[in-house]
Amino acid sequence: MRRKSKISVPNGFLAAIVMLIFVSGIATMLVSGHKLSEITQNKNVSEPLNNSSGNTLEGINSRAVSPNAFEEESNLPNGYRLVSVLNEEIYKGSLVLVNYQHESRIDGENLVNIYENISSSIGVKEDNMMINSVVLDNMNVFFDAFKEAKGKTSILISSSYRSKNDQQKIYDDSVKETGKKSTAYYVAVPGFSEHQTGYCFDTAAINKDNEMVELDGEGDFSWLSENCNDYGFILRYPNDKTNITGIGYESWHFRYVGKAHSLFMTKHNLCLEEYITGIQKYTFDNGGLLIDEGSKGKWFVYYVPKLEAFNNTDIPVPADSEKFPYNVSGDNIGGFIVTVDVSKNSSAIPDNATSEWSFDNSDLIIKDFVDYDPYNDTEEDEDEEDTERDSDRNRSGKKSNNDDWENDSFWDDEDDSESSDKSQNDSEFEYVDYYDDYDENYKTDEENDYSDNGEDYEE
Ligand code: DAL
Ligand code: ZN
Repeated sequence: MRRKSKISVPNGFLAAIVMLIFVSGIATMLVSGHKLSEITQNKNVSEPLNNSSGNTLEGINSRAVSPNAFEEESNLPNGYRLVSVLNEEIYKGSLVLVNYQHESRIDGENLVNIYENISSSIGVKEDNMMINSVVLDNMNVFFDAFKEAKGKTSILISSSYRSKNDQQKIYDDSVKETGKKSTAYYVAVPGFSEHQTGYCFDTAAINKDNEMVELDGEGDFSWLSENCNDYGFILRYPNDKTNITGIGYESWHFRYVGKAHSLFMTKHNLCLEEYITGIQKYTFDNGGLLIDEGSKGKWFVYYVPKLEAFNNTDIPVPADSEKFPYNVSGDNIGGFIVTVDVSKNSSAIPDNATSEWSFDNSDLIIKDFVDYDPYNDTEEDEDEEDTERDSDRNRSGKKSNNDDWENDSFWDDEDDSESSDKSQNDSEFEYVDYYDDYDENYKTDEENDYSDNGEDYEE
């Protein structure tokens, strides 16, 4: 039974106190979220380089939590605590999914110069190329192992981080040189290329005449696709997933995701679209996913959807990061993926964690995807381009699932009779209408300068 207070307080005063507490709570939440870089400032747990180094989590203690957090934290399994991360951090990290549906919201992350830091086992096309620092470390280990296995040095990094403008240039040049259909098959729409994240790179081979040629993934080079998963990399656009990735087979494009994930994706034959969509149901509350790769490592992985109603999301993480090094990455869709290294100690794995992967990928299959054959690109194919453009459209723009696509100005404005004329003029090229911040002064006549640690190559 509720007792009446002996002290009488005016209602207005009470309301003011309640309001003050509420406002200060909200203000605290707005200012005190943390960035992933603060949480993952030490070595990524998925790196083969130094699995033993833990996250210090310095600066995390003064976190603000959502109103229910105390209750949530008290319900966490032993050995876990909550850290609060800004929701906008979902756009960052080694597991972001960038594709025709999910635009890159970052412009590189922790970029370093490749030429200055690259292993002597591999070359780089230009001395100003940049890539994410974790990717570079793992890339060096990967190519050192390749050299040891095959004795090859005739390989170089031909592309890595690309700004949206860089991608625009490549896209425009590709349309002019190879046509719209081939471009749609191989080149991401500017803004939707994962090269913009800095988490991937392209490779090329140097032939006997010192020319840079496409790395076909055959012969000795098959070692790369067969072993990349041991070094945290995946072949991002495999031959058997083109109607999910929306990109043709690229034997040269490798993406860093971290060793736990590259091993798991390879074992279960998953492309990044399938994995990142499927992992969303492996939440911390549901028990997460246990990735046990025996002597290669053991990881506990779970998904934490962002808290829509707040600026921050409270993410459960191991309290002892020395014992359980962990990494938090955004997915670029709606939440965070936590990867805990449990190789040395299994006590952080909840009883209800599962190793079973189940995911129905039918929603990911691009309807009417044109199975374009780049090696049989005939005149006839080009003539048929118009009638098939609705199919191409399904994987070349973010409105792919929009039933109103007929109204999409991207296509309505297109006039094929003009397109060939326009394509002669970069600044007026028809596709540019689609992009918000296209730079009209962008020039496309820069010269290519292939230099492998100082040496020049012809295209
Ligand atoms: N070639 C890949 C898909 C890109 O343009 O990002
Ligand atoms: Zn690429």
